[in-house]
Amino acid sequence: MASCALISETEQWKDLKLQVEEINKTHLRDLMNDSDRCKAMMLEFDGLLLDYSRQRATIDTIEKLIKLAEAASLKQKINRMYNGEHINSTEDRSVLHVALRAPRDATIHSDGKNVVPEVWKVLDKIQEFTEKIRSGSWVGATGKQLTNVVAIGIGGSFLGPLFVHTALQTDSEAAKSAKGRQLRFLANVDPIDVARNLTGLDPSTTLVVVVSKTFTTAETMLNARTMKAWIIAALGPDAVTKHMVAVSTNLALVEKFGIDPNNAFGFWDWVGGRYSVCSAVGVLPLSLQYGFPVVEKFLKGAASIDNHFYSTPLEKNIPVLLGLLSVWNVTFLGYPARAILPYSQALEKFAPHIQQVSMESNGKGVSIDGIPLSYEAGEIDFGEPGTNGQHSFYQLIHQGRVIPCDFIGIVKSQQPVYLKDEVVSNHDELMSNFFAQPDALAYGKTAEQLQKENVAPHLIPHKTFTGNRPSLSLLLPSLNAYNIGQLLAIYEHRVAVQGFVWGINSFDQWGVELGKSLASQVRNQLHKSRTAGEPVEGFNSSTTYLLSKYLEASSD
Ligand code: F6P
Repeated sequence: MASCALISETEQWKDLKLQVEEINKTHLRDLMNDSDRCKAMMLEFDGLLLDYSRQRATIDTIEKLIKLAEAASLKQKINRMYNGEHINSTEDRSVLHVALRAPRDATIHSDGKNVVPEVWKVLDKIQEFTEKIRSGSWVGATGKQLTNVVAIGIGGSFLGPLFVHTALQTDSEAAKSAKGRQLRFLANVDPIDVARNLTGLDPSTTLVVVVSKTFTTAETMLNARTMKAWIIAALGPDAVTKHMVAVSTNLALVEKFGIDPNNAFGFWDWVGGRYSVCSAVGVLPLSLQYGFPVVEKFLKGAASIDNHFYSTPLEKNIPVLLGLLSVWNVTFLGYPARAILPYSQALEKFAPHIQQVSMESNGKGVSIDGIPLSYEAGEIDFGEPGTNGQHSFYQLIHQGRVIPCDFIGIVKSQQPVYLKDEVVSNHDELMSNFFAQPDALAYGKTAEQLQKENVAPHLIPHKTFTGNRPSLSLLLPSLNAYNIGQLLAIYEHRVAVQGFVWGINSFDQWGVELGKSLASQVRNQLHKSRTAGEPVEGFNSSTTYLLSKYLEASSD
């Protein structure tokens, strides 16, 4: 394929278009009858089991998707990523989050330099620092141990660490080492978030970690100033050195803000914000809470998937298959959304994290060469843990819109069951739903079946389920730090695969800039109006009216 042409120009693309007609002739009910097909659509790796037999795809479809991947030079693009080439071309950067979890003796280059020693230098510094805090050899200004941590950050500097923290909270090993400690996240610039974070918090036992790749993000900097003022008000200006540390790529701004550069933990421009949970962004707050060994286990889980993704042929490669199936669902079958449905309460923050990873990465309208796409790319992600979601939005998934679903199940629960005499445990109950839902979606229920059940004729249309609704099931052996790392890396790489095939740049995010600059114009107006009583001007009539009303009502 010529480098500037869209992937939709290829024969392989056209071939897949024809596949849609074939697939539309079959129902998942029939596809599921073919046990050879079902067996061929199971993959096992490092304790994980992926079953994608409930996708609206035949073996032929998968082969054609692999051919599309080849036409898109997927393997070459993966190699270019691992080789540190500047595949984020609009920002002229490498994309090397895999280096963040590489073993100490690995070699990964960016701009001719092996970055792994730098990664480990920061990891070693984190380990040393967090051990000091956790052991009490580093204390606060009044001599008290710092048992509470508030991590300030937003977007990628928040969602990943929040997901991992929430997932680890009920893991027995992690919970044991977190005993007596608290980790909170302050993300929103909304004063409500500040108030909620400060409730019950004692400045003398609190360490604030300011997390910002750029150290310029308006919300984070305002929250950082707020927390700094809170510390100074309680403990005096000298306390900042003991109570505030930072994670950033912009160490000059960290120092300018008033945080001792010795207490700053760096990372690099080749780590995208939404891919930064394995850098100091996540590793520092999580190590403060759970200890470095637990977090190292998480990094190892992610590294296991990194190796698998790099070295496994496309047709046996979990992130590759998942990415290709998403391309198939979004672009060829025309399903714009995807539901992420973990059957584990510990994964309640997984979907919010993947929303950013996926939607900020692949929510693009032009190819990497700037050509408007002639097809839909990107997908709308949402989700909730099962079974809660079943009592919320599953109605739409079963009888309304078709939304491909990712069911994520765990074999061994993080927690023991409470009612020990019950043969079918709470976890079995949860997992019964995990196993049942995909079949309900795939098979549905026909009018004939309902007639046999003597359902009243007027209710038959309401009780009919069309079925033929795709899903996939991912079964994890347990949910410890290692498995959480695996899960993270699978989804990160899946998103990259989608972007590589769609031919877009999954690693920039220009779409967030316009709103930011308009907000800055509004901020200036509010400042002028409040300080000098200047009237609102330079906006359209709607915004002028709204702003004037806001100023009038809020100045009482
Ligand atoms: O506004 C979007 C964004 O740039 C994300 O990509 C990023 O994760 C987030 O803001 C926070 O940025 P920073 O870490 O630089 O504060």
